[in-house]
Amino acid sequence: MAERERWSSRVAFVMATVGSAVGLGNLWRFPYICYKNGGGAFLIPYFVALFTAGIPLMILEFSLGHKFQGSAPHSFSCIRKKWEWLGWWALLIGFVITTYYNVVIAWSVDYLFYSIPVSWGDNAKDFFFKKFLQVSSSPLQLGGIRIPILLAALGVWLSIYLIIYKGVERVGKVVLFTVPLPVILLIILIIRGMTLPGAIEGVKFYLTPDFSKLADPKVWLAAYAQIFFSLSLAFGILIAYSSYLPSHHDINNSAFIISLTNCGTSFLAGFAVFPVLGYLAHVKGVPIEKVVASGPGLAFIAYPTALKLLPFAIQFFSFLFFLLLISLGIDSAFSLVEAVVTGVMDKWKLNRHLSTTLVCIPGIIIGILFTTRAGLLWLDIIDDLMTSFGLTSVGLLQCILVGYIYGAEEMRKYANSVSDFPIGKWWNFCVRILTPIILAISIILVLQDRIKSPYGGYPYPALFCGWGIFFSLIVIALWLASRRGR
Ligand code: PHE
Repeated sequence: MAERERWSSRVAFVMATVGSAVGLGNLWRFPYICYKNGGGAFLIPYFVALFTAGIPLMILEFSLGHKFQGSAPHSFSCIRKKWEWLGWWALLIGFVITTYYNVVIAWSVDYLFYSIPVSWGDNAKDFFFKKFLQVSSSPLQLGGIRIPILLAALGVWLSIYLIIYKGVERVGKVVLFTVPLPVILLIILIIRGMTLPGAIEGVKFYLTPDFSKLADPKVWLAAYAQIFFSLSLAFGILIAYSSYLPSHHDINNSAFIISLTNCGTSFLAGFAVFPVLGYLAHVKGVPIEKVVASGPGLAFIAYPTALKLLPFAIQFFSFLFFLLLISLGIDSAFSLVEAVVTGVMDKWKLNRHLSTTLVCIPGIIIGILFTTRAGLLWLDIIDDLMTSFGLTSVGLLQCILVGYIYGAEEMRKYANSVSDFPIGKWWNFCVRILTPIILAISIILVLQDRIKSPYGGYPYPALFCGWGIFFSLIVIALWLASRRGR
C-alpha cells in the first residue's frame, strides 16, 4: 500500500489546524455573542466550555485520526463497521457548509473590488441587499444568478482546488501565509479602531460584565455552541488532519495550543469590531445598541458604514478589512474540503487529483444556489439546520461512540501514550457525561423553539426543503457507508 502523506513539520500541522479553527466565526460571531450574553462575564462560561468540551473533543478527534490513520468514516468504521455512516454524515454536513461558506468568501472578494471606489457610499445596507445581492422576496423565488458572486465563487473554489490537490505538504506551506496574515491585519485594524473617538465606549459595551446573565442556561449553551463551531469540531476535519501526523506527536499539547490560540484570536477580534462600532455610534450620535450587528450584517453593513466615515485612508482600511475576511475564511474552507477529500481517498483508494476534482465539482454546482438572488435566504435556512442540529448531533454521537462503545479510558490511554503530558480522568467524564448532556439539551431546546415558531419566518415549503436536505444527507451517508471500498 502506498505510504500515507505526512505534514512536513509539527508547525505545519498546528498552523493548518489553527487556520481551520480561526475563521469568519471569530470575527463576526464571537464579539457579538459575547456582548449579548453578559459581556466580560461571558468569558466564564466560554472558558468553562473550552476546557470541558472544546479541548477534550479536540483531543478525542486527534486521537481518532492519529490512531486509525484515516478520515472520519474510516476511523469510525475501525471502531464499529456499522458506525461508518456517522463519519460520512459529518463530512457531508461539512461539505454543505463549504458550499455556502465559500459564497460568503466570494462576497468578500467582490467587496475587495468595491472598496477601492467605496461603492457602498452612504448607504451600505441598501447597497448590500438591493444592489449587490438583489435579494428576492422569498426563498422560493430564485430570481436568477448574480454573476459577480458566481465569478468570485468560482475563483474561491479554484484557489481551494489548487491548494489541496497536491496534498497536505502544500497545505502546510499555504497556511504559513494565511494564518499570520489575518493576525497582522487584525492588529492594524485594532490600532486604527482604538484611536478613534468613541472607541472606549465600544470596548465598554463589549466587555462590561453582567454577572446576572450567568444564571441563564441559554448563555451557557451559547458558549458551548460557539466553542464547537469555532474549533471546527464534529466535521471530521481534525480527524483528517491528524491522520497525516507522524507516529510520534504530542496530541494533548497541540490541542491546548490550537484551542487557546483560536480563543485568543476571537477575544482580540472584539477589539477590532467594537471600537469601530463605538465610533460609528459616536459620529451618528446614536446609542451603540443601534449599530451593533453580527454575521453578514456586521461585515457587509455596519463595518463598511463605519469605514466610510474614517477621517482618512478609507480605501486602504476597507481593502484591509475585506482582505482580512478572505484570509480568515479561506483556510477554514479548504480544511472542510480536505476532510471530504481524505474520506473519498481513504475509502476508494483514489488518487488525490481525482478525489479533489470529485469533491470540488459538485461543491461548485450546489453552491450556485447560494449565488442566486435568493441565495442569502437559503444560506440562512441551511446554515441554521447544519449548525444547530447537524453539528450538535454529530458531536453527541461521536461522544457516545468513543465514550461508551470504544471506551473513553482506552482512548485516553492512547492519547497519553503519544503525548508528553498526560490528561487525567476528568477527560473521561467530559466525553462520557458532560458534553453529551449539554449537546442533548441544546438539541431539545432548539427543536422546541423551531416547533413553536418557524425559523426566520420563512415559508414552510422552503423550511421543509431544508429539512429534506438535512435528512437526505443521512440517507446518503448510510448509502456511502454501505458501499464497499477498496
Ligand atoms: N471554525 C470556523 C470559524 O470560526 C468555522 C468553520 C467551522 C470552518 C467548521 C470550518 C468548519 O469560522
